[in-house]
Amino acid sequence: MIVLGIESSCDETGVAVVRAPATGTPKLLAHALHSQIDMHQAYGGVVPELASRDHIRRVIPLARHVLAEAGMSLAQIDHVAYTRGPGLAGALLVGAGVACSLAAALGRPVIGVHHLEGHLLSPFLSADAPEFPFVALLVSGGHTQLMRVDDVGSYELLGETIDDAAGEAFDKSAKLLGLGYPGGPALARLAAFGDPSAFTFPRPLLHSGNLDFSFAGLKTSVRNQVMKLGTNVCEQDKANIAAATQEAITDVLVRKSLKALRHTGLTRIVVAGGVGANARLRERLNIECATRQIRVHYPELALCTDNGAMIALAAAMRLQRGTAVRQLDHAFNVQPRWALASAAA
Ligand code: KG4
Ligand code: ZN
Repeated sequence: MIVLGIESSCDETGVAVVRAPATGTPKLLAHALHSQIDMHQAYGGVVPELASRDHIRRVIPLARHVLAEAGMSLAQIDHVAYTRGPGLAGALLVGAGVACSLAAALGRPVIGVHHLEGHLLSPFLSADAPEFPFVALLVSGGHTQLMRVDDVGSYELLGETIDDAAGEAFDKSAKLLGLGYPGGPALARLAAFGDPSAFTFPRPLLHSGNLDFSFAGLKTSVRNQVMKLGTNVCEQDKANIAAATQEAITDVLVRKSLKALRHTGLTRIVVAGGVGANARLRERLNIECATRQIRVHYPELALCTDNGAMIALAAAMRLQRGTAVRQLDHAFNVQPRWALASAAA
């Protein structure tokens, strides 16, 4: 079974081809990505209308490229998958439009995939694939969630952010430090030169007794610190603030993840979403989990941020289990707001 996957929920156009046997882990045959970072950088964030227009320009050439790389023709595709939500409505509609039209032309079913399901299953494409059940820490630009995952489609929300997402906290703090967009990788690079103990930023809800997060206060503390230093702020101060910010965010993520593992009694954790690429988060989590005999699984670094491979994979894993929702009418269908728990099998 061959699945073509299309991702267009935000500022990355991703297309991929996956081959799935009747059982066992699907294999990635080819994937290609176009990031719009350069285009949005001038505006300090994603401009939805520009994002949609760029997806239109990129998606067909990327699909051609991926098929050529996989050595396949369109006729060999059995299913077309696309990101149905959550995300920017206009951007999602581009992927949906192309996927539904292509599937209709080929006479194949089309499958709308939940973007976060793609992220949390993405480690199955890595050499060190997890086994069910596991705890998933989903940390992206728009979401911060801890889930209990028993199988594909069996997701229990354990906790989530009540305000900003972890990626948003990275991005907003980076902006206050005058770093470019997206702020997460830029802040992480600067943090490498800083002393995390030079400043102490709050760790909200750390002792809340539940598994929820809150990052809005952190951004306010960073803003206050930057304003306090005013024009006296030097490069070392900025690096120290970056390091202390990264430490506060990763500290909360690690400690709440450990709490989720204790609470569920599970011994495996999957970390997915853009912030999962953060080296300090990985370092802390690896150390803490090693001492507790807990296995940590990450997607390949290139598949941490948005991509088409995770969308093709999620559709393929659902098809293997007979739980994929095939849209036989090929009608465009996007869900900009969509809770993962409601996408359960
Ligand atoms: O999963 P993703 O690509 O897109 C969404 O679905 O949101 O995540 C993007 C987020 C951005 O907030 C970005 O700043 C953050 O992931 N990010 C990072 C790193 N790489 C990406 N944050 C911290 N450290 C990184 N190395
Ligand atoms: Zn994402």
